[in-house]
Amino acid sequence: MAQLWKGRFKKELAKETNDFNSSIKFDSRMFEEDITGSIAHAMMLGASGIIEKSESDKIIGGLSEILDDIKSGKLKIDMDAEDIHTFVEGELTARLGDTGKRLHTARSRNDQVALDIRMLLKKETTEIIAMLKSLVLVLCDKAEENKSAIMPGYTHFQRAQPITFGHHLMAYTAMLLRDIDRLESTFKRMNVLPLGSGALAGTTYPIDRNMVAEKLGFDSVSQNSLDGVSDRDFCLELASALSIVMVHLSRFSEEIIMWCSWEFKFVELDDAFSTGSSIMPQKKNPDIAELVRGKSGRVFGDLTALLTVMKGIPLAYNKDMQEDKEAIFDAVDTVKMCLKAFTPMIETMTVLKDNMRAAAAKGFINATDCADYLVGKGLPFRDAYKATGELVALCIDKGVTLETLSLEEYKKICGLFDEGVYEAINLENCVLKRLSQGGPAPGSVEKQIALAKQKINGE
Ligand code: ARG
Repeated sequence: MAQLWKGRFKKELAKETNDFNSSIKFDSRMFEEDITGSIAHAMMLGASGIIEKSESDKIIGGLSEILDDIKSGKLKIDMDAEDIHTFVEGELTARLGDTGKRLHTARSRNDQVALDIRMLLKKETTEIIAMLKSLVLVLCDKAEENKSAIMPGYTHFQRAQPITFGHHLMAYTAMLLRDIDRLESTFKRMNVLPLGSGALAGTTYPIDRNMVAEKLGFDSVSQNSLDGVSDRDFCLELASALSIVMVHLSRFSEEIIMWCSWEFKFVELDDAFSTGSSIMPQKKNPDIAELVRGKSGRVFGDLTALLTVMKGIPLAYNKDMQEDKEAIFDAVDTVKMCLKAFTPMIETMTVLKDNMRAAAAKGFINATDCADYLVGKGLPFRDAYKATGELVALCIDKGVTLETLSLEEYKKICGLFDEGVYEAINLENCVLKRLSQGGPAPGSVEKQIALAKQKINGE
């Protein structure tokens, strides 16, 4: 396909150069944004008297038809074109003749591409936020169902203190709510119109940037033409926010993978979200969770690629910046793909409460509560801690738990113990008493759920 910038050149572009230079294979996904952006630009050109109103109308009509034709499949995007901007303008000119050639007045591909990516990423960011919100709501429902399901909480991956499964799930909700917040904040800075920056130095035509911004749903216009065309912070921010999303999904996946193992058996994934082995008939593998954990690496890679592309280029536009698209599109697509599989996997997983409760009964996770009981009897915490440590050592020697150790043995270690200790170390009571704000008591988890839902529903 002929290049738009041919005038200065005497020779045809080498095939290898064209293939290397072309971005159509990945930027064709912005066809709708490109055309919608061009329609707004053409309207502005007509309204400002930069081109005749009749020509602006023709251009708008032509662009609308091209959009319809691409959507219906009547018009195929030419994969030999240099990029989507060139393709659309070329097609318009083929349809309208000289009128089509007026579209690019007061515009450069540099501000055009900056506009298109922002428009596309605004849409994608909005979709990802909605997907994260659905996941949060699924987690809130699961947490509600499991707000009294006792499980061991861990530090250093050692059983530590009793919590509930509902509380554990709400920890992930807290992370995802921050992710949503980060994406909403990124969206704000994305929502600035770069069109009108020209190639780098604005334009001599009397353009109306605010009119275009309003037509395309942008909050404001960029304030410096060099920055307008060379800023890709919104890609970096989005890739960074998405990387953090993937950190969260990956940690969650890691836990799910462990919980599915015979060593834990805290949850069972639905058959629709598990796979088998080609050789071992007994296997049920948590492939979805493993893939999500693995795909986090891709998204971190995309962020690194974007940071590296941007860090050394002088102002303003440089062709290096064409590399932004594959990386940020991959990050967006990967996160969406992960969420699409992850949310229903969580929704359909069975929680094996009895196994969690049985695991909680081992590992002396009520030892802190036992020490707190002695503190309640007047003993300083450090002494209570020491006495409980001795009790645990005794239990280990005898192969019993704090629940099954006799009162006589308790008294041998500390005279302050009485029958009440058994109630104090009962796991259900231990959790019920942890009513501190943000704690695991069912009442506190209910509050966390209500707050999360409020945030999601924008109350
Ligand atoms: N395909 C290019 C990109 O994605 C469009 C901008 C081209 N501008 C230029 N001066 N070559 O960045």
